[in-house]
Amino acid sequence: MPRVLAVDPLQPDPAVIAEAAAVLARGGLVAFPTETVYGLGARGLHEGEVAKIFAAKGRPVGHPLILHVDGEPMARTLASSWPEGASRLARAFWPGPVTLVVPRAEVVPHAVTGGLDSVAVRAPKHAVALALISAVGEPLAAPSANAHMHVSPTTAAHVVRSLGDRVDMVLDAGPCAHGIESTVVDVREDPPRVLRAGAASLEALRAVEPRVAYDATALTLASANEAARASPGLAAKHYAPRARVVLVDARTDVARASAEAKASAPARSRVGAIVWSDEARAAMAAARESGAAPDLLVLLPGEAEAYARALFAAFYDADDAKIDVLLVERVPEAPEWWAVADRLRRAAA
Ligand code: TXA
Ligand code: MG
Repeated sequence: MPRVLAVDPLQPDPAVIAEAAAVLARGGLVAFPTETVYGLGARGLHEGEVAKIFAAKGRPVGHPLILHVDGEPMARTLASSWPEGASRLARAFWPGPVTLVVPRAEVVPHAVTGGLDSVAVRAPKHAVALALISAVGEPLAAPSANAHMHVSPTTAAHVVRSLGDRVDMVLDAGPCAHGIESTVVDVREDPPRVLRAGAASLEALRAVEPRVAYDATALTLASANEAARASPGLAAKHYAPRARVVLVDARTDVARASAEAKASAPARSRVGAIVWSDEARAAMAAARESGAAPDLLVLLPGEAEAYARALFAAFYDADDAKIDVLLVERVPEAPEWWAVADRLRRAAA
């Protein structure tokens, strides 16, 4: 077990922050909360320390990391130039869940960028993260604090479950506000281009950058080809619980699919279901009466932001319940569901 220190999410105890900063200054790894998900932090300008992140996650070198900063001035020190789009988006969203891909400055180690000539930067909107960056006095490299290909952690307990002793310290400030990762935007060209749908909505981005480009299908297809990918960390198969994830179309099909999965899967396979619609809830209740209920049933809210906040915890619950086949009811195709839809596609890939 790593050391887990409780810390107030709004007014972090300076003594706790100082302890965590000392672990980082000694070259250790500290998992810390952000408004999106928990990050696995190391000092981002120290190649050897960044290498420990890759080892702890089992992440392939070549998958670039985000450098977390305490604001735009620190971010500018990491960029060889600061595009107009970066200024506009940073002003509108920072601190907040938008990550900007900008041209890399020499000071940024190749280990951070996976050899790319760009670097991703973001100022998180979380008092603990900002206090930690300020205490260390330099940017923190931090991917989501989970084992490679696994689910991003939205609580300190998830971090411990996914990484165990591979992290030196975990700051526990309770569940994350968004529960889904930041929106990644490449601002090196005009118009800027979304590389990963995330906690900041497309609508909010377009209010600042009306012509911002986003192509969900291109991202998924491009992910099949390692070399062609714009964002090398975006593996098609990603964000997945241990179970095989099956997206289920029609709302009322969930109960039937559950019964079928149980009947067709190898003996003693455990089936789980994640549903949100009233229809699916009713169907699950009926299935329970007829003895076809799944081994785990998770009911999530029908509103996109609330659903996103709870989804990864549901995946961790499915792991805990040793679910083999996880049926997930498809979500609406409306724009506000973009990040959730993206993560479900990847989990089922
Ligand atoms: O919300 C988040 O972004 C969380 C918290 C901890 O900040 N972090 C996170 O990091 O999700 P990670 O490493 O799990 O995902 C980073 C994403 C990957 O898809 C990666 O490919 C992309 O950012 N990325 C990083 N640097 C990049 C670069 N130079 N060019 C293109 N994409 C980049
Ligand atoms: Mg990740």
